[in-house]
This record gives sequence, structure tokens and C-alpha cells, in this order.
Amino acid sequence: MVKKIACVFISGTGSNLNNLIKKSREYNFPIKIKLVISNNIHAYGIKYAKLNSIKYLLINNTRNSEQRILRELKKNKISLIILAGYMKIISKNLINLFGKKIINIHPSLLPKFKGLNTFSRVLESNEVKTGCTVHFVTDKLDSGKIITQKFFYLKKNDNVAELKRKTHNLEYLAFPEAIIKLYRNT
Ligand code: GRF
Repeated sequence: MVKKIACVFISGTGSNLNNLIKKSREYNFPIKIKLVISNNIHAYGIKYAKLNSIKYLLINNTRNSEQRILRELKKNKISLIILAGYMKIISKNLINLFGKKIINIHPSLLPKFKGLNTFSRVLESNEVKTGCTVHFVTDKLDSGKIITQKFFYLKKNDNVAELKRKTHNLEYLAFPEAIIKLYRNT
């Protein structure tokens, strides 16, 4: 199988990045991760790029950053951008100039709880379930077409840490599943 070349954008822990790196080693998994971009020089997740000898780029959120990003995406023939805990909004300009697929994972059942502080808002709500969503990225925050969702039922004693743990565990299934779905018929 000819794998598509992907770039993962991170800002923090990078546990989804780590999971996707492991998955991408499988013969049948449709992508190879060739580049990691972090807009946070202290992001723990950079460690996974280093450990796996994946090229990484640290950007500093200045006006030139987008040009640098686009240059690297082109140079590395990236055909899929995966946002995995990337805490910056991708501009319309970048979306248009890249012109290929961009996907994101969000820790709620979109369209519910778009934006930040998802877990505390879920806890304050009357929802009976929550989960995660993998979706296409558009210039509207957390609003593109949904590719995959996974959910679990909320329990009485759930707290933010517990929701985060359970959601992450679902994300490790949802992201690979969504990526397989993207390329199923190619
Ligand atoms: C995930 O919960 C994801 O849904 C959100 O940011 C978190 C990233 O976690 N967008 P990690 O950096 O992959 O551990």
C-alpha cells in the first residue's frame, strides 16, 4: 500500500500523536507521519517526534509562521494535516493554500461543547453521555463535517480528570478509525 504522507500539529502532551505514530507503523494503516509541527516549544509531545526520528518544526506564532508551515508542508509532500491538541486556530488562508485534507479531534460529541474547557462544561450540563469527535477542519471553530464519534455514559461521580482519561482512551480508537475511513476507497 502506498501510504499518504501526514503532518501532525500539536501544542501539548501529544498522547494522540504517540498513538498515531504507533498505528502508522502497521503495514495496513494508510498514513506515514513525516512531520510534526508544534506552536509550543515546551510541548511534551515533541519528545515523540524525537524518539521516532520524525522531523519536527517549532513555530512561534508570528506572522511568518504560516509561510514557514506552508513551505514545510510542500517540501515534505504532506497530503493530510492532523490536528491533535493543536491550540491555535488554523486560518482560512492556510486552509485554502494547503488545499488538502485537514482533520481535528475534539473532546466532546460535536456540535455540543465546541471550544475550550469542554470537560467542566459537560459536568455542569445535564448530558447523559459524552465522548470525542474527529471532523474536517473549516474556518469555523469545531464545525466541519464529522468523520467519527465515540461516546461513553456519564457517571454520578465523574470529575474533570476522569472525563479526560475516559475521553482520551476513546480518542486513541477514534482517530485511527477516522483516518482509515478517510482512505477506505482510495
Ligand atoms: C485531546 O483531548 C483532544 O481532543 C484535544 O486536545 C487533547 C490533546 O491531547 N483537542 P494529547 O496532547 O493528544 O494528549
